[in-house]
Amino acid sequence: MKKILTPYHKKGLHFKNHIVMAPMTRSRAIDNIPNDLMAEYYGQRSGAGLIVTEGTAPSPEALGYPRIPGIFNNLQIEGWKKITDTVHQRDSKIFIQFMHTGRVGHELNLPKGEHLVGPSNQKVSGQIYTDAKGMQDYSEPVALTTQGVFDLIASFVKAGKNAITAGFDGVELHAAHGYILEQFLNPHVNNRTDDFGGSIPKRAKLIIEVTKQIANAIGPEKVGIRFSPFSTFNDMPSYDPEEVHKTYALLAKEMNDIGIAYLHLSANPDIPQKTYDALRKNFTNTMILCNGLTPKTAEDALNAGFADLVAFARNFLANPDLVQRIEKDAVLNEVDYTTAYTPGPKGYTDYKTL
Ligand SMILES: Cc1cc2nc3c(=O)[nH]c(=O)nc-3n(C[C@H](O)[C@H](O)[C@H](O)COP(=O)(O)O)c2cc1C
Repeated sequence: MKKILTPYHKKGLHFKNHIVMAPMTRSRAIDNIPNDLMAEYYGQRSGAGLIVTEGTAPSPEALGYPRIPGIFNNLQIEGWKKITDTVHQRDSKIFIQFMHTGRVGHELNLPKGEHLVGPSNQKVSGQIYTDAKGMQDYSEPVALTTQGVFDLIASFVKAGKNAITAGFDGVELHAAHGYILEQFLNPHVNNRTDDFGGSIPKRAKLIIEVTKQIANAIGPEKVGIRFSPFSTFNDMPSYDPEEVHKTYALLAKEMNDIGIAYLHLSANPDIPQKTYDALRKNFTNTMILCNGLTPKTAEDALNAGFADLVAFARNFLANPDLVQRIEKDAVLNEVDYTTAYTPGPKGYTDYKTL
């Protein structure tokens, strides 16, 4: 029996296998409300031991992309309940990913009257898609005041409670890929002079506070976090590699002290061995590895020891029955990228099963 297919049990986490469906934005949430089509999509993929949902906005100003779901009002909570019910009926677990897009977004994608926010007013270079006017330059974010940062933390905590009301097994904080939590870590984007900017511990303070306060509100065993050390995605300027290493070594230790359920590593680009080692040494609970895994390399990764669980994104997008295909060593469908973010069922719920 392949290890990947066996049940997983560690410190309060119980999954039917070692397979995680990685978070994927799919932009099917019309009016930012989760719907029946999304329930069908997640239901189809509940062969996974754990599903991590697409990036979801904890507050209105976090809705930087078109048609991404939120978890800050009652209609959204009710919509998510259908999804968590469907997944639970199929004996899978589901964590919701909190993605606050921060400066990555456009005001046309936000509810009227909302503004993008960030650690500073530095814009992302390049363009972003809007439903209203197609491709547009990124909007300039409003730099959060110190009180604004406290309000941001409070909105994450409120969203965490909403997630539990909606039936989720937990919350994954998206601290990767250049969204607001990672924006605060970056010394070029974060030029603050208050307690949330400056030294490594100060730039990491937002992540630590959000994690601590959500863990206090819903339980540390219901909290996971995603990191992408050394990533420059979404116009994140690179900085001194030694400083990057120290930042994530510190964060892993802090996350361990809070006692959260898992650390989810998006290893793109690949990271230095010493950073893998520091993460594994400093964080003893569940480690999830993601990026470019195939059924074969995922099995090897589980046996190599760094990863407790392995996550697949694109393979799950194109193969709703990925777990069965792994069981049978079957061929995998390819992703149709033209329908990755388009509304409706095409390229969403119509991928063929075996
Ligand atoms: C269509 C698409 C949407 C994605 N959206 C998210 C997201 O919302 N949150 C996130 O953390 N990563 C997101 N990712 C990144 C994936 O979770 C994953 O890290 C990446 O695709 C590499 O894994 P893979 O090789 O198994 O696809 C997305 C990837 C794809 C292909």
